[in-house]
Amino acid sequence: MKILLLGSGGREHALAWKMAQSPLTTQLFIAPGNTGTAQCGTNVPMEATDLDAVKRFCITNQIELVVIGPEDPLVKGLVDHLKKEPQLQNLMVIGPSKEAAQLEGSKAYAKAFMQRHDIPTAAYKEFTADTFDEGVAYLQQHSLPIVLKADGLAGGKGVIIAQSHEDAIDEFKMMIQQSKFGDAGKKVVVEEFLNGIELSVFVVTDGKNYVLLPEAKDYKRIGEGDTGLNTGGMGAISPVPFADETFMQKVKTKIIDPTIQGLQKDNLDYKGFIFFGLIKVQNEPFVIEYNCRMGDPETEVVMPRLQSDLVALLVATATQQLNNTTIQYTNDSACTIVAVSGGYPADFKKGYEINGLQSKSGSIVFHAGTKEVNGKITTNGGRVICVTSLAPRLQDAVAISKERLQDIHFTGMYYRADIGYEFQ
Ligand code: AMP
Ligand code: GLY
Repeated sequence: MKILLLGSGGREHALAWKMAQSPLTTQLFIAPGNTGTAQCGTNVPMEATDLDAVKRFCITNQIELVVIGPEDPLVKGLVDHLKKEPQLQNLMVIGPSKEAAQLEGSKAYAKAFMQRHDIPTAAYKEFTADTFDEGVAYLQQHSLPIVLKADGLAGGKGVIIAQSHEDAIDEFKMMIQQSKFGDAGKKVVVEEFLNGIELSVFVVTDGKNYVLLPEAKDYKRIGEGDTGLNTGGMGAISPVPFADETFMQKVKTKIIDPTIQGLQKDNLDYKGFIFFGLIKVQNEPFVIEYNCRMGDPETEVVMPRLQSDLVALLVATATQQLNNTTIQYTNDSACTIVAVSGGYPADFKKGYEINGLQSKSGSIVFHAGTKEVNGKITTNGGRVICVTSLAPRLQDAVAISKERLQDIHFTGMYYRADIGYEFQ
């Protein structure tokens, strides 16, 4: 099978690594990819958000399966764009329709969906320039802290947790009147703060049935002990020790089942991954957000635990045969630690040579922001590489990744040495 995978991060290297192992894969293209994905298939210099270029590539290269890694092309409508092309009627596409991708693309859309289908989430109200005064009045009487969210995609930066009414109103003004997050913040969702512990739960769905993938926990803050600025993710672990059977049963019955039924009731076309960003509050799960794709760096711990064939699973998803599908995964713990560029998540420099990447047994080094320049592998992003290890005990997986990171060097390299700290 000829496969095209879209994206260029650690998530895509992990997906490409897993798909390259499938006997069903005859050719794997990754667009645009990175130096790591080039070890699993052929990189193609094409942006995932260039809908026409992706369509032409699929036609010219007789692609049979397209897997869309990041959210931008999904929210832009890539799935609809490919499906309406007469020459691509047999193409299997992993990703939701443009409408269903609004579950990630619009926080207000997602909140209304959850409310309509009785899915536990924080209480909320939405405001725009037209309801600005009402919004200020609402914020003034809201309990603290107050969560403000730009409605649209804001690269993970659109959420503000305000500790005072003044801060909340200032942020609200900046979003609505000064376009702090551009068009994404023209509508603002104001919601109740939930106090609990977060985890990421993943399924693949064919729109009717779903298969649960291993859950994970992401470490979002730059500093050890979960301090400092938010990042795209500094590391992840799987399984999550507090996601025991009783809790996961609640996640299924209160969150996943009503979500899949909601997709059907609302006639939403969805064949792909759903990422449930959850928070556990006094043993009850609540949805913080939906994402219409896999998580990054969570994929870098989920894929190494998956023992089943990913390509077979995705074919079953695209052809609506998930009711007959089960998967196997190892009970070992996985840990990934992300090495980032100095300065990230604020300004950082790119183009430094990375040394010590030569393959070694024990860990898997997934590339995130890397690029080959004159035969050398160089840094090309904030998150540069992710080192994943598996072991029967979480603390051993963490130790193996840290040991592997000792060999890897680039100017300004930084990583958190405390991934999984609460559980060791
Ligand atoms: P999001 O972009 O929706 O994932 O939000 C970013 C982060 O903000 C989440 O991972 C949470 O840590 C935090 N957050 C969002 N909504 C809430 C909420 N209602 N209560 C507490 N924390 C929240
Ligand atoms: N790790 C969080 C995300 O992928 O959005």
